[in-house]
Amino acid sequence: MPVQFNHTIVHAKDKRESATFLADILGLDAPTSYGPFMVVQVSNDVSLDFADDHGPVHPQHYAFLVEESEWDEIFGRIRERGLDYWADPGRNRPGEFNTNDGGRGVYWEDPNGHFLEIITRPYGSAG
Ligand SMILES: [Fe+2]
Repeated sequence: MPVQFNHTIVHAKDKRESATFLADILGLDAPTSYGPFMVVQVSNDVSLDFADDHGPVHPQHYAFLVEESEWDEIFGRIRERGLDYWADPGRNRPGEFNTNDGGRGVYWEDPNGHFLEIITRPYGSAG
């Protein structure tokens, strides 16, 4: 049986705020509660299970592959909210997006400093 990535825990200062932020920005269903987690489900059967951390949150990187039309909607929400965004992971190109691999990509932060990314083409897919 092939191995499939199923879920991960996302540490947050406020799991409800952070899970709702992600779900709203990405246009996903509202988070659901499961045990100590607030769960955000994405379409390839993977969930991000937000948990309250009781110390400093160490920012991680989470990237999402989206359709072109979804990219427009998500990028629109990032700009509507006045969030900072960058074309690159080094944050050297603020206020821009990239066209890597013949698609589009952009980075922004969640309320914990987790570094989020949307791309329309997987890394390296341009050949
Ligand atoms: Fe990435």
